Amino acid sequence: MQTDVEAPATEPLDIQDGAVVVAGVRKAYGPVVALDGVDLRAAPGEVVAVVGPSGCGKSTLLELVCGLAAADAGTVRAAPAALMPQRDGLLPWLSALDNAALARRVAGDSKATARTRAHGHFAAFGLEGFERARPSELSGGMRQRVAFLRTLLAGRPVLCLDEPFAALDALTRGQAQGWLAEALAREPRTVLLVTHDVEEAVLLADRVALMSARPGRVVRTIDVALPRPRARTDLAVVELRERALAALGAA
Ligand SMILES: Nc1ncnc2c1ncn2[C@@H]1O[C@H](COP(=O)(O)OP(=O)(O)OP(=O)(O)O)[C@@H](O)[C@H]1O
Ligand SMILES: [Mg+2]
Repeated sequence: MQTDVEAPATEPLDIQDGAVVVAGVRKAYGPVVALDGVDLRAAPGEVVAVVGPSGCGKSTLLELVCGLAAADAGTVRAAPAALMPQRDGLLPWLSALDNAALARRVAGDSKATARTRAHGHFAAFGLEGFERARPSELSGGMRQRVAFLRTLLAGRPVLCLDEPFAALDALTRGQAQGWLAEALAREPRTVLLVTHDVEEAVLLADRVALMSARPGRVVRTIDVALPRPRARTDLAVVELRERALAALGAA
């Protein structure tokens, strides 16, 4: 997806291997300006958390990167990206296995191949034994794992995760952050992770982009140069969380 409305970016951009470049982007819905002057980059394999107040255009930004909508101005260049939407989007009439396999069906696999490929990941995601369960029979944490697996199976170099854990209780959320970190260690991707949770951003990301209230733009980026795995009780994690919260308050 490439949307050049104003002057195209001058520097050469190699997006083949999974990069994302958003430069000077504006997007309005009628009179509501969701985004204005957004600059954001993700290098191949980088996990960038996007944090900002409700309504500042985070979901809109992911839609632009995934090519589901076009910017009014500015440049969006991204390697092929898969979206995990803010609501899990699982189809209630399909089993967990078929929901996960859906991404492979869309990519052209036969039903049997899609199921086999999806099932290959079920154990690693703690879903073994729940292949035939409908989404209504799964816990919230399990539904999120199925939805994430479906996103991963799309086989795209970029993953756009829109508040994947927002609906989970604190304990389940902590576990979910753990499996996401492990999954990315196994299968590195470029990730844009939208979250309200500054601690989650510091635990999972290489960089945290802080957005202003609407019209949203990235006002500050904080590097998280900490070794993995990270624990919420690590002093460095606590310090960075406080720094990001202070910056967000000042934004
Ligand atoms: N399809 C749409 N039509 C009209 N307005 C929209 C549409 N999508 C988003 N908006 C508006 O654009 C603004 C940004 O919405 P968006 O969903 O991107 O924000 P967000 O940062 O993801 O919010 P939240 O944190 O609550 O999920 C909001 O004011 C919203 O009402
Ligand atoms: Mg949103």
